[in-house]
Amino acid sequence: MTMQFTVAIDGPAAAGKGTISKAVAKDFGFAHLDTGLLYRAVGFKTLQLEPDAITTDVAVDLAKCLTPEDLTNDSLRTGDVAQAASRVAVIPEVRDVLLEFQRTFAIRDGGAVLDGRDIGTVICPSADVKMFVTASAEVRAERRFLELSAKGHDVERAGVLADVIARDKRDSERETAPLVAAEDAVIIDTSDLTIEDAIIAANKVVASVFNGK
Ligand code: CDP
Repeated sequence: MTMQFTVAIDGPAAAGKGTISKAVAKDFGFAHLDTGLLYRAVGFKTLQLEPDAITTDVAVDLAKCLTPEDLTNDSLRTGDVAQAASRVAVIPEVRDVLLEFQRTFAIRDGGAVLDGRDIGTVICPSADVKMFVTASAEVRAERRFLELSAKGHDVERAGVLADVIARDKRDSERETAPLVAAEDAVIIDTSDLTIEDAIIAANKVVASVFNGK
């Protein structure tokens, strides 16, 4: 018998979605997809082109040609790639190309956790559990600054905060699949939580639904 169970975790840049999603997936034995990597991989490829050459058709072709190896590139975590990702993420046709893969992943046997911006609203509107993980821009920027510094990236606090604010604005104001909490999402504000407490809170939300199934 197959078991499908979808957990949708959305939220703004650097809110802790990735860490929480990985922990939830591990604790419940579900597969995990960081959907931001799909947009980052397309964004990364656009950075190799002249800005004038990046038309909708070109961005769509880059999205169609993504391979699993494209998602394991270490350079995907940089601020430049994040900005490029949020620029291609505005293009509805690019989002369309990536939609099917995400939906198929969501219903895989054994359960799945997907994190991103539009999982609970567009990709999996009928997910079993929806959470919206957020925190103040300052707290999120500080966490991302520490994360990138620890990985050896040469970054400054002010630059990381500006990146977070610019992406939040672009992601929230775009017409297609804007960053917004689904009406039925449980909001987890991690501003004053340790990552351990945020994981405990998320696990409780998942357990309350999963154990009742
Ligand atoms: O890790 P962080 O929260 O900083 O970003 P990410 O999840 O890797 O996403 C990078 C960018 O991809 C975002 O700023 C969005 O513009 C875009 N994205 C999206 O539009 N939809 C998703 N489901 C996931 C990411």
